[in-house]
Amino acid sequence: MPTIAVVNQKGGAGKSTVSVHLARWLQRRKEKILFIDADGQQTSSIWLESLENEIPFKVIQDPNELLEQLPKLTKTKQWVLIDGPATLSETTRAVLLWADLALIPCQPAGVDLASASDTVRLVRQAQLIRGGLPKSALFLNKAIKGTRLKEEAITVLKQIEDVTFLSSIIHQRQIITDSFGQGATVFELTGTSAGVARRELDSLFKQAMEVLDA
Ligand SMILES: Nc1ncnc2c1ncn2[C@@H]1O[C@H](COP(=O)(O)OP(=O)(O)O)[C@@H](O)[C@H]1O
Ligand SMILES: [Mg+2]
Repeated sequence: MPTIAVVNQKGGAGKSTVSVHLARWLQRRKEKILFIDADGQQTSSIWLESLENEIPFKVIQDPNELLEQLPKLTKTKQWVLIDGPATLSETTRAVLLWADLALIPCQPAGVDLASASDTVRLVRQAQLIRGGLPKSALFLNKAIKGTRLKEEAITVLKQIEDVTFLSSIIHQRQIITDSFGQGATVFELTGTSAGVARRELDSLFKQAMEVLDA
């Protein structure tokens, strides 16, 4: 089954949030998942431990260990989802050598846009080695409706070459920030705001699957 890595060396871009939500989204579709937390801060493993309906995970941050384990883990009949580290490190390179899809969240701010293109650079290097893999998709997270920053970010991200810009945008939503503390994802939370966040994530993940299948 496919391996998806959520990468961007910029802390706060939403890697852990998106990877945990993607895991839950796949689990709700009856898919088998192994989650790998490759980030030293271990946000996602703490989050996954707090969830009901367990999602199995391993913490592997050492690049050598990743390079030795991923060949085995990615051959099994389960999705492998990797929450990437907050550095442009050997760990990121190791992960990009085994992912089928690199999913890159980006916040609408100048420095974050620059870091997204640094991440894409690493993706391109892996693609040269692997004859085109990993496929890659970039998307805007934490956007604020009606702001110039959002529109400017979309313009900049669309121009980055060799990566698909997903038109589904995830907006800055309190319910998403709160989900970690509630030991849940927005897929389990009730209420209107959870529903709105769920629809955005659902649309994003469907687009990511299209890139994976293309
Ligand atoms: N779309 C969003 N709306 C609101 N808060 C968000 C959103 N995405 C992420 N966050 C919050 O931003 C912070 C950083 O997100 P996180 O997923 O930990 O980023 P990373 O793993 O890239 O460092 C967390 O507090 C998280 O709850
Ligand atoms: Mg994180």
